[in-house]
Amino acid sequence: MLFVFAVICAFLHVSYQSPRSHWTLLPNILVVEVDGTLSQQPLSCIELPEELMRIGNQSQGIFWKKNGKEEAQRGNSYLVQLEESLGGGNYTCHSKDGSLLNHTEVLISEDETKRRKILVKNDQEHYLKCSTQNYNGEFQCSWTWHPSRVGKVAFIKARRVSDNNSVQCSLDSSSQQWVCFSDHSNFSCMVDDSGRGISCLDKQHCPYAEESQPIHITVYVRTKQFLVEDYSRHFYLSEIVKPGKVRIVKINSSVIEWSYPSSWSSPYSYFPLTFQIAQLRGECRRCNNPCTDSKAATTEMVHSPGICQFPVWHKAKVVCVRAKDAICDSQWSEWSHVSLRGSKKNRRHNKEEA
Ligand SMILES: *[C@@H]1O[C@H](CO)[C@@H](O)[C@H](O)[C@H]1NC(C)=O
Ligand SMILES: *[C@@H]1O[C@H](CO)[C@@H](O)[C@H](O)[C@H]1NC(C)=O
Ligand SMILES: *[C@@H]1O[C@H](CO)[C@@H](O)[C@H](O)[C@H]1NC(C)=O
Ligand SMILES: *[C@@H]1O[C@H](CO)[C@@H](O)[C@H](O)[C@H]1NC(C)=O
Ligand SMILES: *[C@@H]1O[C@H](CO)[C@@H](O)[C@H](O)[C@H]1NC(C)=O
Ligand SMILES: *[C@@H]1O[C@H](CO)[C@@H](O)[C@H](O)[C@H]1NC(C)=O
Repeated sequence: MLFVFAVICAFLHVSYQSPRSHWTLLPNILVVEVDGTLSQQPLSCIELPEELMRIGNQSQGIFWKKNGKEEAQRGNSYLVQLEESLGGGNYTCHSKDGSLLNHTEVLISEDETKRRKILVKNDQEHYLKCSTQNYNGEFQCSWTWHPSRVGKVAFIKARRVSDNNSVQCSLDSSSQQWVCFSDHSNFSCMVDDSGRGISCLDKQHCPYAEESQPIHITVYVRTKQFLVEDYSRHFYLSEIVKPGKVRIVKINSSVIEWSYPSSWSSPYSYFPLTFQIAQLRGECRRCNNPCTDSKAATTEMVHSPGICQFPVWHKAKVVCVRAKDAICDSQWSEWSHVSLRGSKKNRRHNKEEA
């Protein structure tokens, strides 16, 4: 009995602390960092004193709603109760007659050391998977939502690492592009229609110069439950480059020809590719991709600064070609293939693919 009493007393004496930190992500969006303990975050309906003065004693009548439901607290100030990951929401304040005066979305950011909840790792190492098909300054990053927590992008920060804090990012609402600029960089990013990735462009990037600083990208994602998490990666474009698929055509039964992927940087003499050619003896009808699913009879490497013709082995049924950067040790492109002795239907199919 005494123990229960002590526990209740201890509970009543819990003092509410301020959250560890809070910052404005975008106008009217406040991020509050919590560590699991009880805390309170003050909000103001009207911040400007002169504005408050103007409405005068009406401010007594201000009332608040959380996600549309009226709350008991009254007045210009409001205390958000934070406990664990609860407390996030859309807080609106209204004048006595019910009209909307202002609103603040409170997003909860849990202690970084806790397990991540919103995205799951794409591969063993990373939450964000980034790649580019050339050196033009474009790149894409994609991610996988946690199956039970599909959310949306709340903020994007892209920069060359040297301008860590001076960078300014905002959402251009007309074009739906996130733009980040500083003295040294100018990025724009767009969320893909799928909601599972972004496409970005470093407008200051010079394809002909060596990158002196890596790109640093941070994506803030939020859930319907007002939880927010940020995910970052940094890389040089040369580390994430993966050429697009090679365009390959059959000239006749003994010669094939391919050209550089249209997405690759030009001039090709400055950005040469190395090609790998695999010739398959069998057709492999049942596999999705003959190039990865069957064993090549012969494999060769070719360097070529443009369109390339290649005499094929007389027994080859399928020829596969892929490319990688000849100077940096980039990833290989996906394979392209052409059937040499296939039916007419097959040939048409291959042409379409190439
Ligand atoms: C409305 O609330 C935001 C915070 O969400 C604050 O920055 C802004 O100053 C408020 N507007 C007025 C008129 O006080
Ligand atoms: C607000 O002030 C006006 C005059 O300044 C007064 O007539 C009115 O009763 C006040 N209202 C409230 C709710 O205090
Ligand atoms: C929050 O409330 C404001 C005012 O009603 C509204 O404009 C805004 O879209 C709401 N935000 C969300 C995420 O529902
Ligand atoms: C940016 O980062 C560099 C290196 O980490 C550091 O020396 C510099 O002080 C930082 N600049 C700002 C403005 O934080
Ligand atoms: C960034 O690039 C855009 C478009 O190229 C341009 O309009 C804008 O002025 C640039 N901003 C800065 C700060 O360089
Ligand atoms: C196939 O095309 C090449 C290049 O155009 C040509 O040299 C060769 O004679 C042709 N072979 C056959 C069998 O038509």
